[in-house]
Amino acid sequence: MLSLALAFPLLLSVHGALLTAPQQLTSLNYDFVIVGAGTAGNVMANRLTEDPKVKVLVVEAGISNANNLDITVPFLGVSAAGTSVDWNYTTTPQLGLNNRSIPFARGFVLGGSSSINLLAWTRGSNDVWDNYARLTGDPGWSWNAVQQFYLQTSRLVAPADGHNTTGQVNPKVHGNGPVETSVEGFPTELDNRVIGASKFLGGEFSFNLDYNAGNLVGFGWIQSSIGGGERSSSATAYLQPVLNRPNLDVLINTQATKLIPDPIVNRSVPTFRTLEIAQSSAGPTFRVTASKEIILCGGVVGSPQLLLLSGIGPQ
Ligand SMILES: Cc1cc2nc3c(=O)[nH]c(=O)nc-3n(C[C@H](O)[C@H](O)[C@H](O)COP(=O)(O)OP(=O)(O)OC[C@H]3O[C@@H](n4cnc5c(N)ncnc54)[C@H](O)[C@@H]3O)c2cc1C
Ligand SMILES: *[C@@H]1O[C@H](CO)[C@@H](O)[C@H](O)[C@H]1NC(C)=O
Ligand SMILES: *[C@@H]1O[C@H](CO)[C@@H](O)[C@H](O)[C@H]1NC(C)=O
Ligand SMILES: *[C@@H]1O[C@H](CO)[C@@H](O)[C@H](O)[C@H]1NC(C)=O
Ligand SMILES: *[C@@H]1O[C@H](CO)[C@@H](O)[C@H](O)[C@H]1NC(C)=O
Repeated sequence: MLSLALAFPLLLSVHGALLTAPQQLTSLNYDFVIVGAGTAGNVMANRLTEDPKVKVLVVEAGISNANNLDITVPFLGVSAAGTSVDWNYTTTPQLGLNNRSIPFARGFVLGGSSSINLLAWTRGSNDVWDNYARLTGDPGWSWNAVQQFYLQTSRLVAPADGHNTTGQVNPKVHGNGPVETSVEGFPTELDNRVIGASKFLGGEFSFNLDYNAGNLVGFGWIQSSIGGGERSSSATAYLQPVLNRPNLDVLINTQATKLIPDPIVNRSVPTFRTLEIAQSSAGPTFRVTASKEIILCGGVVGSPQLLLLSGIGPQ
């Protein structure tokens, strides 16, 4: 089977849907413009372009995820922070850390932080979801109601060493989505002893066959976003398979710098359908428009930063 790492450059050369400079855009008008080809942005891009009539542009500040072993080989994942795939943020001095400032890694690459994270595949607990439903008064947020989305997101595949996983995971609670997940390959003797002790001792933290089945308490085999021994990210699972769609353009190495307000037609509702983009603070700026929506998927730092740069939020 052709590996994803090999398939990626092939797709690029054939279809050219991955653009590296705004000058390569053949249109400045789309139905949707998505800011950030990260964890959330690629899901939006994939689902929206299922309709061939809908034209989508994704603008990503970071670089391609191709040909980078640190973000492909799961064991090397710890080496990715602080390299070319990281924004290299640091925190303000933290009182609780003796006023030290510490690194705050965020993905600067296709797949965003799902390309540099530590791969633990963990669903929210049934209690957390049911609380959302109670607080919002909307049963659509309940554990039972969100199951269909978990099942659409990921699927269980064989662990890297191909061992028999009977008794290590409950396949019934796993679905058929594009993110590949698996239990640990090559478990060590220590793992077997910890699991054995949890089965023997029982109690509140006894063995838990599948901590992604609602109850997260106890000891169980870890599940990771790994398939075929490689990282499964939102870039490999959601973006790469659809990069050849003619209605999808993905522009990397380019930052969204400002949302431009529409001319005022209704003073009670300001709207923003134009996005300013640039490749550097010195370089030229370009404007792209979305006839329907601009969707912010810049992550926990990038999205609020873009809002603040656009005059939206606290002064
Ligand atoms: C080192 C590390 C380890 C982690 N480990 C785990 C784990 O084991 N398990 C787990 O579940 N979670 C883990 N997480 C957290 C998880 O990866 C994130 O919560 C999740 O990926 C965030 O998704 P997002 O879509 O909000 O943002 P991101 O995936 O970060 O996507 C944001 C994207 O927007 C781009 N962007 C930002 N601003 C702009 C702009 N102005 N213009 C253009 N593009 C822009 C960014 O470059 C990025 O690609 C970890 C995170 C890190 C950093
Ligand atoms: C983060 O730091 C590394 C190491 O100094 C550097 O190579 C990389 O370019 C930096 N990332 C960004 C987005 O500037
Ligand atoms: C941390 O910084 C605060 C604010 O500058 C200061 O009041 C405090 O004494 C500092 N604490 C330590 C442990 O240095
Ligand atoms: C895996 O192990 C279980 C329990 O020992 C057994 O029933 C099952 O047949 C095994 N599966 C395979 C594919 O060997
Ligand atoms: C203006 O916005 C208000 C509030 O959302 C809405 O009720 C009204 O229909 C809008 N008017 C026009 C002309 O769009």
